[in-house]
Amino acid sequence: MVGYAQGFKRWLRSLLLLSLLTATGTQAGGEVDLIIDTDPGADDVVALLFALASAEQLHVRALTTVAGNVRLDKTTRNARLAREWAGRDEVPVYAGAPGPLLRTPIYAENIHGKEGISGVTVHEPEAPLAQGSAINYLIDTLRAAKPHSITLALLGPQTNLALALIQAPDITQGIKEVVVMGGAHFNGGNITPVAEFNLFADPQAAEVVLGSGVKLTYLPLDVTHKVLTSDARLEKIASLGNNAGKVVGDILNDYVKADMEHYGLPGGPVHDATVIAYLLKPELFSGRKVNMLIDSREGPTFGQTIVDWHDGLKREKNVFWVENGDAQGFFDLLTERLARLK
Ligand code: RIB
Ligand code: CA
Repeated sequence: MVGYAQGFKRWLRSLLLLSLLTATGTQAGGEVDLIIDTDPGADDVVALLFALASAEQLHVRALTTVAGNVRLDKTTRNARLAREWAGRDEVPVYAGAPGPLLRTPIYAENIHGKEGISGVTVHEPEAPLAQGSAINYLIDTLRAAKPHSITLALLGPQTNLALALIQAPDITQGIKEVVVMGGAHFNGGNITPVAEFNLFADPQAAEVVLGSGVKLTYLPLDVTHKVLTSDARLEKIASLGNNAGKVVGDILNDYVKADMEHYGLPGGPVHDATVIAYLLKPELFSGRKVNMLIDSREGPTFGQTIVDWHDGLKREKNVFWVENGDAQGFFDLLTERLARLK
């Protein structure tokens, strides 16, 4: 009789646990409950394919788009294109802010081309845009989320999240972590001698996000400029034998030229994709918690991220600053995930 009773209790306990898990909406499979905010953008497209090919680890709830590399209509079309190339049309795309909070808009068509993606022919994707603005989607979703359950990957100017936080400061309750591609310290800037593009394009938005107190991780140029393409790495991707490999190979071959020329580098960075690799395999990266400030004053340091790497000022450490990464490990992971796509 004892065996039967014990067995029944064990069965009941597992039934209860299962119902609890489903009741709390624990993602079936996905380890990271994720929203990706993006301004595609060549490297954004690579990041989106990378993430959408990793469904068992990244539960991508939605893509939210923002003006940045190019205007909003094109970043939004390009996000829908990346979704189509990944075969993930079920992931909703919400359009967000058409411009920065305060400053005059700037774009990077000189780097990403008029259409926002060069090296490939773009077309109008089939699957439609979701109804409603990205800002309202962020507010509704983060308000309804389980406490500190949703991770946000910000791959462009931080305008959408800043607007959501201004309108609804309480949404921090639903945020687990915000992982940003942006900023520069040791490396210097890529748009001015000290400022990186995403921060330079909307420093006030980045200040709002920083000031909200959310758990914040930055992948700046300090690390993205150490994770560089090479002919061999691009050849491996291009020869995967699927459309995703061809698209990424063609896009990156075109995209990296500007940086290689400008910096005299042997390869080019794939900035935004490092955020996805960090979410998938954080052990590929290293950094430290630091105090970071953002300069949003007009002038030569506009958009600069000021990082107290040696803690000289003994201020609150408000950001985890990623400073190094395993380049081969990154490209091995990226290539393996792209191979999964059609
Ligand atoms: O500075 C690099 C960043 O600016 C990347 O996110 C790239 O897509 C551009 O948005
Ligand atoms: Ca970007």
